[in-house]
Amino acid sequence: MAIRKVGVIGAGLMGHGIAQVAAQGGCEVIVCETQQGFLDKGLERIDKSLAKLAEKAKEKGQTFDPAAVRARIRGTLAKADLADCDLVVEAIVEDLEVKKALFAELGKIVKKDGIFASNTSSFPISEMAAVSGRADRFVGLHFFNPVQLMKLVEVVRTDKTNEDVVAQARAFGEACGKSPITCKDTPGFVVNRLLVPYMAEAMKLAERGDASIQDIDVAMKLGCGYPMGPFELTDYVGLDTTLSILQGWVKRYPNDPAFGIPKLLEAQVKEGKLGRKSGQGFYTWQGDKRV
Ligand code: CAA
Ligand code: NAD
Repeated sequence: MAIRKVGVIGAGLMGHGIAQVAAQGGCEVIVCETQQGFLDKGLERIDKSLAKLAEKAKEKGQTFDPAAVRARIRGTLAKADLADCDLVVEAIVEDLEVKKALFAELGKIVKKDGIFASNTSSFPISEMAAVSGRADRFVGLHFFNPVQLMKLVEVVRTDKTNEDVVAQARAFGEACGKSPITCKDTPGFVVNRLLVPYMAEAMKLAERGDASIQDIDVAMKLGCGYPMGPFELTDYVGLDTTLSILQGWVKRYPNDPAFGIPKLLEAQVKEGKLGRKSGQGFYTWQGDKRV
C-alpha cells in the first residue's frame, strides 16, 4: 500500500512543517488542530515557508509551485476527517498521557490498515502503540526542527512493528525529501539521546558560572562547527519541550546520571520564557530571528 493521504495532528512548530513536507512529497494532507486560531497560525506558517522556498528556487532557476503544494493541504478541527488516511502523524504536546488518549481515540476512527506514527521526542513508542489497537502498524517518525530544512527522519520500530510498515514509513520519509535512519524504541532514539543531555550539560555549566551563555554558544559554534550553540538551539526547540523531555526521563530512569533537570531551565519555563515561540528564552526573538 502506498501512502497517499496523510493526517497530521497538531499544527505547531513541528506539525505545520510535517504537513508541508508531506504535501511537497505529493501526498494529500489534512492537518488537525484543537482550535481554529492554532490551525490558522499553522497554515500561515506553511504559506510563509512555501513563499520562502519559492523565492529560493527562483534564485537558483529551479521550478517550484507553492500553490500546487498548498492545494494539497487542508485544515480541520474534526478528527473524524482523518478516517480514510493511509498514515496519521501525531505532533501534539510532549505529554505521554495526552498522546495515549489521542491514539486510543484515533484507533476507533481511522481505517484499520492506516498506519500511526508519533513525532515524540522522548516517549516510548510502544506505550502509545499499545493503546492504539494496532501495535503492528505503529512507528515513531521523528522529524527535526525546522522540518522544512533538516534532512533527517528517524524511523523508530518497536518489537511489534510490522517490517512492511517500517518500509512504508521509510518510503514516506524519502518522499518528504528526508534521509531516513531506522532505530529501536529507546529513550531519545539516536539524536535526542545524545543531544538533550548535551543541552542540559551546557545549562549546568552556565548555572555554575563556568562560562556565560553567549560564550558557551560561541564555543560550540566555532569549536565544533555546530550551526547553533546549545542555548540558541534550546530556544529554537522550545524550553517547555526540552523540560518535558528531561522530566519524562528523570521520572522513568531516576538513577541514570545522564538525565537531570537544570534549575536554570525550570526557572525559565516557570517565567514563561519558552524560547523562540514566546519571543523570549535564553535570547530575545522577533519572529524567527534572534535579536
Ligand atoms: N522554511 C523555509 N525556509 C526557511 C525556514 C523554513 N521553515 N527556516 C529558515 N528558512 C530559510 C531562511 O529564511 C533563510 O533564507 P535566506 O538565506 O534567504 O535568509 C535560510 O532558510 C537559512 O536560514 P537562516 O538564515 O536562519 O540561517 P542558517 O543558515 O543558520 O540555517 C538552520 C538555519 C538550518 C536552522 C541552522 O541554523 C541549523 O541547522 N540549526 C540547527 C538546527 C538543529 O539542530 N535542529 C535539530 C533540533 S533537535 C530536534 O529537532 C529534535 C527534537 O526532538 C527536539
Ligand atoms: P507545539 O507546542 O509547537 O505544537 C503542538 C500543537 O499541538 C499545538 O498547536 C496544540 O494546539 C496542538 N495540540 C495539542 N493537543 C492536540 C490534540 N489533542 N489534537 C490536535 N492538536 C493538538 O509543539 P512542537 O514543538 O511542535 O512539538 C510537537 C511534538 O513534536 C512533541 O511531541 C515534541 O516533543 C516533538 N518534537 C519537537 C521538536 C522541536 O524542536 N520543538 C522537534 C522534534 C520533535
